[in-house]
Amino acid sequence: MNIYDAIKKRHSIRKYKPDPVPEDKLNRIMEAVRLAPSGKNGQPWRFILVRDAATKTALVPACKGQGFIAQADLVIVACANEGESYQNQGGYMKSWPLDIAIALDHLMLAAAAEGLGACWIGAFIEPEIKKILSIPDDLRVVGLTPLGWPDEDPKPKPRKPLNEIMFFEHL
Ligand SMILES: Cc1cc2nc3c(=O)[nH]c(=O)nc-3n(C[C@H](O)[C@H](O)[C@H](O)COP(=O)(O)O)c2cc1C
Repeated sequence: MNIYDAIKKRHSIRKYKPDPVPEDKLNRIMEAVRLAPSGKNGQPWRFILVRDAATKTALVPACKGQGFIAQADLVIVACANEGESYQNQGGYMKSWPLDIAIALDHLMLAAAAEGLGACWIGAFIEPEIKKILSIPDDLRVVGLTPLGWPDEDPKPKPRKPLNEIMFFEHL
């Protein structure tokens, strides 16, 4: 599948079959994650792959009751080590939220190419996630995603047209 097809095929999946993600698919997806770009190539990411049913269930309230995450074979928790990221992006910010977001987008596009589903989970309570997974103080939780076999085929969500968001030469 080419990149444009994967971009079109990817939708947030909020209903999963319990079937396991085959190891070869998981390895290809995580290799796509590993190859993501990052500020100064800092690669400040750590990914915790949760397959244990009790742990996935424990993560649901920490994700504000989003129960569908526990349906999927895996819940992947994307963390950042702030200190490993580029510290002065644009003169005002650190790159770690961007770095992790890019890596997660690689994950989601690769998942779509593999026929699997994922969904950005940004609604979570960081201290609770850290407690459940024993994540140390020097790591931040940036986002999570379930990863598994889709049990729905959602309609594409609307997007703004290009003429509202793209400008030549000046705004
Ligand atoms: C940073 C971020 C956080 C998000 N958090 C959640 C979330 O907590 N729960 C959820 O169901 N979807 C979440 N989403 C998914 C968006 O709702 C979804 O991407 C958007 O509605 C467009 O739909 P699509 O992904 O199917 O194209 C999040 C997406 C992003 C990029």
